[in-house]
Amino acid sequence: MTSLAEAEAGREGGAPVLDLRSDTVSRPTAEMRRAMADAVVGDDVLEGDPTTRALESRVAELLGKESALFFPSGSMANQTAIAVQGRWGGEAIVEGDAHVFHWEEGASAALSGVQLRPVATEDGVLTADRVREAIRPDSRYAPRTALICIENTHLGSGGRAIAPEVYDAVAEVARERGLPVHLDGARLWHAAVALGRPLSDFTHAADTVMVCLSKALGAPVGSMLAGPAEVMEEAWRVRRRFGGAMRQSGILAAAGLHALEVRLPRLHEDHILATEIAAAFDDAEGFRASAPETNIVMVDLDAGQDPRTVCEKLQNHGILMLPFGPSRIRGVTHLDVDREAPRRVRAAVAEFAEA
Ligand SMILES: Cc1ncc(COP(=O)(O)O)c(C=O)c1O
Repeated sequence: MTSLAEAEAGREGGAPVLDLRSDTVSRPTAEMRRAMADAVVGDDVLEGDPTTRALESRVAELLGKESALFFPSGSMANQTAIAVQGRWGGEAIVEGDAHVFHWEEGASAALSGVQLRPVATEDGVLTADRVREAIRPDSRYAPRTALICIENTHLGSGGRAIAPEVYDAVAEVARERGLPVHLDGARLWHAAVALGRPLSDFTHAADTVMVCLSKALGAPVGSMLAGPAEVMEEAWRVRRRFGGAMRQSGILAAAGLHALEVRLPRLHEDHILATEIAAAFDDAEGFRASAPETNIVMVDLDAGQDPRTVCEKLQNHGILMLPFGPSRIRGVTHLDVDREAPRRVRAAVAEFAEA
């Protein structure tokens, strides 16, 4: 994969590279860096870092949970939730394309002895019926279901925003069976904005919720895990076990607080840009883009087009996207994608067609 530095080096005098590979690529603004530099800090493993504490309180309040903890990454926060609420030799039910299943290095098995049970769906939506079917009967001969993991927005299906009621029904099934629910809400902010609902509508289905500050919100580092106080007390220990206890983390937490204040109210702009970029592809021959529900654009290629070659050609026009499966490419909008982006994509794909 070409790095941003290589792509930038290859562009002499042209517009800056338009990096649509992920919403993790955005860089902290000058204002955010100032907030980080000015942060009041302490030792978060000893008496607690004041800025980190402030961020944790703010996120707990936003998500309607008792308590929250700051983590270096979303994967570590997800895996902590699995470690705390799963069970050694037990099983966690997950949607077949879930991030915890595909993209976290087998961590739940490797670190916590929890086996994942992926449930295939056509649209990324793990429904109550599917969960009910996947819960193991009480038997000596099968692993015990220990946990249900849900994801919103759902990355694998192109950033689908799933209505709170869908997961409320999942939670009802889980509670009937005494099972905890963890929500991977790396981009939960987007679901709330897309569906025009408060964040807390999405979180009461789940015992624990992970949200990321380093994606949509543009902070350089950081994710949060929120949940009931006694679960989070245990999560504090597991975070430390996983090597995620940080010291003067207020420098990073300040970026998160700034992002919540400045970026969150503007998130809808990313959705508009994603829709316009999708339309630019869709209008060109050889591309079929799905209508983005949030900030992710999935573009299917006509037969015979290789995603890697298409990404290389886009790169020649200063646009970075990623291959996503055998006949699909993916683009993600974020803080550093400006109003010019759809026009640039349109111009690039028009030139492809001519060539
Ligand atoms: C849905 C989802 N969950 C979890 C993560 C993990 O976050 P991190 O990269 O901070 O570990 C990601 C990262 O892209 C994600 O998209």
